[in-house]
Amino acid sequence: MPAGARLTTVEDVRDDGSFLFTATNSFDMDEEIIVVPCDEEVAADGGAPVDGEGGVAAWINRCTHEAQRFDTGRGVPMRDGEIICPKHGSMFDACSGECNNGEAAGTALPDVEVVVADGEVFLADDEYTFEHEGGIDDGEDGPSSTSHVGF
Ligand code: FES
Repeated sequence: MPAGARLTTVEDVRDDGSFLFTATNSFDMDEEIIVVPCDEEVAADGGAPVDGEGGVAAWINRCTHEAQRFDTGRGVPMRDGEIICPKHGSMFDACSGECNNGEAAGTALPDVEVVVADGEVFLADDEYTFEHEGGIDDGEDGPSSTSHVGF
């Protein structure tokens, strides 16, 4: 079993469309991270080989243009394998994180390393320590209070 925290399953990411969690970065600051379906055999960050069930990739939950969150609590807006920024509509490839359109053209999302083992997704990035499921605000009233996290 991989060393990092278990996040979710590939099946849940595909069923729900995305998975949001909060982790602490190496500067001891909270970051929101999204896990999204990625249908290429190996994601750009090296994670997620396939096993016939598809893969996933993980990215910081923030547009490169004006720091807009992709997932604002209702899942990541996506279409045809691309993450859509809800503010100005730039689209980022879910597997490579690259954007070639709109205000964020020419940029790429900072990646977060995850791995898949037996259909389960694990955080495998030394820069991040798993805190809790959901966005940063979802952790404020305690780890057991996840009932308001909707999908
Ligand atoms: S904030 Fe995302 S394209 Fe402008």
